Amino acid sequence: TNVYVIYGGRSVEHEISLKTASFILNALDKEKYNVYPVYITMKGAWFPLEKIKEEILDVKTLQRSCTDSAAKSIGSFFMKDFRQEERSIVFPALHGTNGEDGTIQGFLELLRIPYVGNGVLASAAGIDKVVMKDLFANADIPQVKYIPFSLNQWMNNEQDTYKEIEKIIGYPCFVKPARLGSSVGINRCVNREELEEAVKEAFLYDRKLVIEEEVIGREMQIAVVGNDDPIASVVGEFIQERPFMDYNAKYLDGKLVSVIPARLPADISQKMRETSNAIFKLLNCSGLVRVDYFVTDKNRFFVNEVNTMPGLTKLSMFPALCEKTSGMTKKQLIEKLIELGFE
Ligand code: DAL
Ligand code: MG
Repeated sequence: TNVYVIYGGRSVEHEISLKTASFILNALDKEKYNVYPVYITMKGAWFPLEKIKEEILDVKTLQRSCTDSAAKSIGSFFMKDFRQEERSIVFPALHGTNGEDGTIQGFLELLRIPYVGNGVLASAAGIDKVVMKDLFANADIPQVKYIPFSLNQWMNNEQDTYKEIEKIIGYPCFVKPARLGSSVGINRCVNREELEEAVKEAFLYDRKLVIEEEVIGREMQIAVVGNDDPIASVVGEFIQERPFMDYNAKYLDGKLVSVIPARLPADISQKMRETSNAIFKLLNCSGLVRVDYFVTDKNRFFVNEVNTMPGLTKLSMFPALCEKTSGMTKKQLIEKLIELGFE
């Protein structure tokens, strides 16, 4: 079986994708699979790299051969370098825009190429916080209060929208671009001045925002793996020293400590696992999804968001949750995801 691990990409989460790719490439058994890394630059050029035969420290060491003359477009990669006649699969180790949003998934569907993880619908619904929250609202999934804020509203109705936000959400509130990941462009605001600043910043990233109520709580996550009969993991908790888990806390500081299983009453964690399975089905997920929660000190839980291609790094919760739940090693997890992709 040939596995094409595609990573990098035109996304603010490019760097995290490099970490996810290193994890996947190292987890894959090179005796069993022909493993081909494929790097996409920030500008969208494709670089098919040499077949991987051994452990690598960091994908960055592989990318030295990415010269302009080796650059390809997505079309010419799939026409010339992809072995479609053999048993082959794509592992889109991509986060956020152009990778976790249904676009590459749609392209692979057109080419009839099997791929790991979520399809077009789940990816597109999961990336868009407004669409996702509207779907959750419709299914009575517990979540915090939110208001969408479009570029058009900002241009034509700015002051009224602020008033509505203050009336319905109040302060402190969070301003988030609707379709980015890893906390990029997200700010917490405690007054009108900060709100206006945060909105301005968030519109640099997206044409659509979501404004959310702040809920003070512990941050927890559940990993779900499967296709038709998904299995939700035990609950994991991140303990951190910051008011919210921003980009630096997630990837740079190394200040996060995970506790698995999280200390919770059994009925609450059971309910959270059921909710995670319900979300998997609601969003039409396949392969995997990670559901993120806030849990208050009264043990009320709220779904914060989903990631349809969650970070798979040494520090990530997802592989650790799978290991605690079913004893799956990282190697077994990656193989399982590949097999699910062929189903
Ligand atoms: N969006 C990042 C990769 C995560 O949530 O894991
Ligand atoms: Mg994300």
